[in-house]
Amino acid sequence: MTARTLIVVGGGVVGLSICWRASASWQVTLVDPAAGSGASAVAGGMLAPVTEAWHGEEPLLELGAASLDAWPAYADDLASAAGVPAGLRTDGTIVVAADGTDRAELDRLAAFLDGLGRQVRSLRPREVRELEPAVAGPVRGGLSVPHDHAVDNRQLMTALSLAIRDVPVVRTAAASVRGGEVTLAGGGVLRADAVVLAAGAYSGRLHERLSRVVRPVKGEILRLRARPGTVGPPRRTVRALVAGRAMYLVPRDDGGVVLGATQYEAGFDTRVTVGGVRDLLADAERIVPEIGEYELVECSAGLRPGTPDNRPVIGWLEDGLLVATGHHRNGILLAPVTTDIVRDVLAGGEPPAAVRPDRFSVEVAR
Ligand code: GLY
Repeated sequence: MTARTLIVVGGGVVGLSICWRASASWQVTLVDPAAGSGASAVAGGMLAPVTEAWHGEEPLLELGAASLDAWPAYADDLASAAGVPAGLRTDGTIVVAADGTDRAELDRLAAFLDGLGRQVRSLRPREVRELEPAVAGPVRGGLSVPHDHAVDNRQLMTALSLAIRDVPVVRTAAASVRGGEVTLAGGGVLRADAVVLAAGAYSGRLHERLSRVVRPVKGEILRLRARPGTVGPPRRTVRALVAGRAMYLVPRDDGGVVLGATQYEAGFDTRVTVGGVRDLLADAERIVPEIGEYELVECSAGLRPGTPDNRPVIGWLEDGLLVATGHHRNGILLAPVTTDIVRDVLAGGEPPAAVRPDRFSVEVAR
């Protein structure tokens, strides 16, 4: 029997994961002018449903926790398919507070998580330094969250590219999508039994029903590396509140560290700003003073696909057009669960209520 045909629009972590998993039962084509070069390449790679948790976003925490549970098997399967490791690190996370107000905020986060049955351990300043000697700045204690992990996002994208090496790629931008059809920028139409729209922040430009649902949320990150003779980066992910501003340092196996991230509503602008770099470095140096001695390797900006409730949008948008986008700050974390939902929906199942596209029907109709 001939396999049914599927076009996946978007070569970020979500699109590539769908290509990889779906190619077992579909004849898949990927459409992206530069797969792997968007927000997935800029990410810190935190797998952090607990430390990203926010009041009112309990369904997102549940979805993220389910995806985190799926991550080890996803990473193992991917490593087998790709022949290279997926880049998972399971050293956990600490969150530290720079001042008393930040400490009070962390205490509120701990109480909120406790109320949801997700306990985190409070740390005194001395305990923070014992766990992570690189955190040598004056801190007002923190929280230990041992099950929030991280993945090297670029290693992950390399592994995904290798795992889909047999999937044909159309290296052209899509201009619009509809059920079973992708119109390419510059002309030409591709047809398939089904289309999956996984174009991240650009998804809102490709289908009218998403134009008021998915928006770009800019984030800048810096890539740093410890120079010989300097104190190396922390072993765990270190998140911090510094005078109310959130910052994170995500270590890599090669002595590198990703410092992130700013967050602005700036349309599709991906230029790195002086103010963004200044604030990130100032906040990081306050927590890990040795950062000032590190090599500054890269500054980049990406566009998170934000939605009104910060939850992804996964399900049929119309007959023959499935959407998997709107992952905002959590695309890498949510890749395994998104791929599972897409597989189920393609097989005739229903997506969970928390991610269904029709929850935005009011916004769409306006
Ligand atoms: N997940 C972290 C960020 O979006 O900056």
